[in-house]
Amino acid sequence: MKHPIVYILSILMAVLFSGAAIADFEGRTKCSSCHKSQAKSWKDTAHAKAMESLKPGARKEAKVKANLDPEKDYTQDKDCVGCHVDGWGKKGGYTVDAPKKPLAAVGCESCHGGGKNYRGDHRKAGQTFESKGTTTQRKVLADKGQDFQFEEACAGCHLNYEGSPWKGAKAPYTPFTPAVDPKYTFDFDKMVKDVKAMHEHYKLDGTFAGEPKFKYHDDFQANAKEKTADKKGKGKE
Ligand code: HEC
Ligand code: HEC
Ligand code: HEC
Ligand code: HEC
Repeated sequence: MKHPIVYILSILMAVLFSGAAIADFEGRTKCSSCHKSQAKSWKDTAHAKAMESLKPGARKEAKVKANLDPEKDYTQDKDCVGCHVDGWGKKGGYTVDAPKKPLAAVGCESCHGGGKNYRGDHRKAGQTFESKGTTTQRKVLADKGQDFQFEEACAGCHLNYEGSPWKGAKAPYTPFTPAVDPKYTFDFDKMVKDVKAMHEHYKLDGTFAGEPKFKYHDDFQANAKEKTADKKGKGKE
C-alpha cells in the first residue's frame, strides 16, 4: 500500500494538473462583448438553439424515432441538459437548480474552454499588440484552460453513447446515435466545417502566435470574413 502522504500528494497533483481545476465557466456574455462578429454568427447556429430542442413539442419526429416522448418537457431533465448547455458538472457551469441564461445552449465556452482564467489575457494581449505590435504566445492561454484542439470537447457530447468509438463515453448518453439514424454519425473533420452548427470565421490581426494552434486555423483564416464591430481589448472583461 502507498504511504498516506504519497496518496494525498498524488490526489493533489491530479487535481492541480487536470483541466477541470482550471475550467471555470462564466457564460458567453464576456466573450461576446469583445467578439461581436462571432457572437452574432453563433446566434444562428444549431448549437445556439440547443435548449429549444428540449422543449415539449419541439423536434417531434426526431424524438419519436429515438424513443423519446415528444410532449415531455426535458429542459430540466438531468439526463438531457448536460449536453445542451455550457460547463455541466464543472465549476461555474450551468445547473438545473440555478439556471443562468448565458450558460444555456452550447456556447463559446463549450468549445473554447471555460474562460474565467484566460479571458483577461485576451484583453492584455490585444492592448499590447495595439500599442507595441508585440504578439503573445497561445501557450499562455492554453495553460489557463483555453482549448485549441476541440476534438475531445465535441466528442464529450457527440460521441457519448454506448458502443461509441470514443473511449471516454459514460452515462448519461445521447439518444441520437448512428444506430437511430446514420446522419448522427460524428466525423470531426467534416463537422468542424459545418456552417449550420459552427459560427463563421473572421479575420484576426495576429495578436496570438505559436503552438498550440488549431489544425485548420490557417485554412479558416485564409477564407475568413472581415470583422464588423469588434472591440480590441475594450470590452467588458
Ligand atoms: C456541450 C455539448 C456539445 C459540444 C461540446 C459540441 N456540440 Fe455539436 N451539438 C450539440 C447539440 C446538443 C446539438 C443539437 C442542437 C439542436 O439541434 O438542438 C449539436 C449539433 C451539432 C451539429 C449539427 C448537426 C446537424 O444535425 O446538423 C454539428 C455539425 C455539430 N454539433 C458539430 C460540433 C463540433 C464540430 C463540435 C466541436 C468543435 C461540437 N459540435 C461541440 C452538442 C454539443
Ligand atoms: C451525451 C450528450 C447528450 C445527452 C445526454 C443528450 N443529448 Fe440531445 N443531442 C446531443 C447531440 C450531440 C445532438 C446532435 C446530434 C446530431 O444532430 O448529430 C443532440 C440533439 C438533440 C435533439 C435534436 C435531434 C434532431 O435530429 O433534431 C433533440 C430533440 C435532443 N438532442 C433531445 C435530447 C433529450 C430529450 C435528451 C435526454 C433524454 C438528450 N437530448 C440528451 C447530445 C446529447
Ligand atoms: C461548436 C464549437 C464552437 C462554439 C460554440 C464557438 N466556437 Fe469559436 N471557434 C470554434 C472553432 C473550431 C474555431 C476555429 C479556431 C481556429 O481557427 O483557431 C473558432 C474560432 C473562434 C475565434 C477566432 C477567429 C475566428 O472567427 O475564427 C473567435 C474569436 C471565436 N471562435 C469566438 C467565439 C465566441 C465569442 C463564441 C460564442 C459566442 C464561440 N466562438 C463559439 C468553435 C466554436
Ligand atoms: C476584453 C476583450 C476580450 C474578451 C473578453 C475575450 N477576448 Fe478573445 N480575443 C481578444 C483579442 C483582442 C484577441 C486577438 C484578436 C486578433 O488577433 O485579431 C482575441 C483572440 C481570441 C481567439 C483567437 C485565438 C487564436 O488562436 O489566435 C479566440 C478563439 C478567442 N479570442 C475566444 C474568446 C472566448 C471564447 C472568450 C470568452 C471566454 C474571449 N475570447 C474573451 C479579446 C477578447
